[in-house]
Amino acid sequence: MSSLDGTVLVTGGAGYIGSHTVRALREAGRDVVVYDSLELGRREAVIDAPLVIGNIADSDLVTATCNEHGVTQLVHFAAYKAVGESMKSPAKYWRNNVAGSVELYEACLAAGVHDVVFSSSCSVNGTPAAVPVSEDAPIHPESVYAESKAMVERILSCYKITHGLNSVSLRYFNAAGASFDGRIGEDWAYSQNLVPLAMKALLLGNPRLTVFGNDYDTPDGTCIRDYIHVDDLADAHVKALAYLGGGGDTTAVNVGTGVGSSVLDVLNATADVAGKPVPYDVAPRRAGDPVSTYSDPTFAQTALGWRAQYGLKEIINSAYTWHRSQMESDARSTPQDRPHPVWPTDAAR
Ligand code: WQD
Repeated sequence: MSSLDGTVLVTGGAGYIGSHTVRALREAGRDVVVYDSLELGRREAVIDAPLVIGNIADSDLVTATCNEHGVTQLVHFAAYKAVGESMKSPAKYWRNNVAGSVELYEACLAAGVHDVVFSSSCSVNGTPAAVPVSEDAPIHPESVYAESKAMVERILSCYKITHGLNSVSLRYFNAAGASFDGRIGEDWAYSQNLVPLAMKALLLGNPRLTVFGNDYDTPDGTCIRDYIHVDDLADAHVKALAYLGGGGDTTAVNVGTGVGSSVLDVLNATADVAGKPVPYDVAPRRAGDPVSTYSDPTFAQTALGWRAQYGLKEIINSAYTWHRSQMESDARSTPQDRPHPVWPTDAAR
């Protein structure tokens, strides 16, 4: 039996990128079981898959879940990802993102799982030496968060040698946007990223958006990033699992569009969709912000047969529709009215 015939365990599948990936896997005909602590994820984001509530360090529960659901492949999202928080509370990131990953991989190996797609980040390169950024760019993390991602990539390389664990580390650029049917998207309550904060400023009026610096050496003075639609990211995970199931070897892949957009490009695209400007104020530069980073998508195409289908326009359109519907549903509901999960979930263990 090929590992592609079994179930996919998705840790962090109740989160932003995780929930979109679960849907993409189901649409590709894969069986899925979501494993999430719900510390940051939302139960209602889990659509059309069973949910097991647990921590990735709970090895017995992970192994039992894998055996119960016939798991043959793992997609590992569950991690903390706030760059600023990682510099204030590093131990939280070492324990969960690094030590937790080791417990998870050991538990999966005990259940016979040998394929892992890991949620890594372009931030392992830090401020890139050159753009576009290819996979052989120097590894130069500039935060504890980024360091934790680089460490897990190295740990996975060692597990290939010691245990024959095959992995694809997907180095995301800037994930943004929402599902086109408006059913799932990014939760602006937690996110400190540009697109949800711009939508919050536009739709709620406060807080106004703070633009961190407009004096960079770029055409309009603001930083440049590679914004990639979350459904394009989800598709990259489906293709990475197929790559491993087809015998692909351990590797790391940059997942971006290859197109750089500035902060003002994002705000102008948002104003075009909404028909009104995003209220913002310019502040000094934010420490740790690279002036420009965007991917070289060549290897993703040759190794995985993947390339992004959507651009900034689709990202902003889908994000605007999602956040506007969230604002309207929040205005109508109170916490106890929150929609119940679509799938009869497993009992909270
Ligand atoms: C984008 C741009 C800010 C907020 C993210 C993830 C990181 C990694 C890469 C996955 C920057 C500017 C932002 C605001 C602003 N992805 N900005 N005002 O820092 O590029 O990193 O993508 O792992 O984990 O965090 O994303 O959205 O914070 O910033 O001016 O209120 O928007 O200066 O130029 P970043 P971001």
